[in-house]
Amino acid sequence: MKIAAVSCVKLDQVWPQTGWQKITAQQPDVLLLLGDNIYLDHNYLTSPVTLAAELAAQYTAQLSEANFAALLADVRGRGGRVEAIYDDHDFLGDNRGGADEPALAAVARAKLIAAFQPSQTGSDVYRTFTAGPVQVVVLDERFYRSKPSVSQDDRDAVLGAAQWTWFENVVASSNTPFLLVASSTTVHQWGNESWEEYDYAFLRLQELLANRAGTLVVSGDVHRNAIYDDSGIVEIVTSAFARYGMMFGKPRENWCLFTFDALGVHVQLNGLKLANQFDFRIELANWQLP
Ligand SMILES: [Fe+2]
Repeated sequence: MKIAAVSCVKLDQVWPQTGWQKITAQQPDVLLLLGDNIYLDHNYLTSPVTLAAELAAQYTAQLSEANFAALLADVRGRGGRVEAIYDDHDFLGDNRGGADEPALAAVARAKLIAAFQPSQTGSDVYRTFTAGPVQVVVLDERFYRSKPSVSQDDRDAVLGAAQWTWFENVVASSNTPFLLVASSTTVHQWGNESWEEYDYAFLRLQELLANRAGTLVVSGDVHRNAIYDDSGIVEIVTSAFARYGMMFGKPRENWCLFTFDALGVHVQLNGLKLANQFDFRIELANWQLP
């Protein structure tokens, strides 16, 4: 079972996007688009009508990119899944959550649904599905998010109360060898929007996922590939695909390929820069980073 993960695609930086051909060549069964799949070109709030037009224009452009379109068609044509979730830039803008802007958040969610037709949980876009030995959980970390400064002591922060309950039930009832949690923002503290910024929500996540054999979080957002398990949660970060790096402004083509078998997972973090390249296995019998 091959699962590819990607985040941060900025079409006005990288066009055409030939890097998608490398993913197509690997024939993934599932393509996870972890967020910042398009970029709003400003960070101020607009009206719902304007936001809808801006997001629709960006999605239309990205979906027309020939290499990207070919990958989506290839995955779907082989009976695979394309699973997208937004982060901030394809939602309401840099570091924004939807908790205080429900009308705008509803627009952003509707445009994600229009672009990628994800399966839904009621009207929500958080969801779970099984792919071979892997149960995949796609979280929505934007719709219910407020700033750490106002929700630091809130154990429901980031996901909102209903999504938290749903998530805990999914983990409790999961009976596959592997659980892969797709998280648009990082768990560990690389960005100023990581889970660790939300003290009580982070503890709740740790209670749920830490030291749980077969459980991985894959996250994006921060324009680098990285690996981390100090909290007990095994996290693979992959970010900046069709995007420049955060610090030095050059294209990255960072992406991750997971290959699951009965005994473990082979993790390949790919990128144009050596610092973003990792290639290792994690065995179910010894569930930690090498
Ligand atoms: Fe982001």
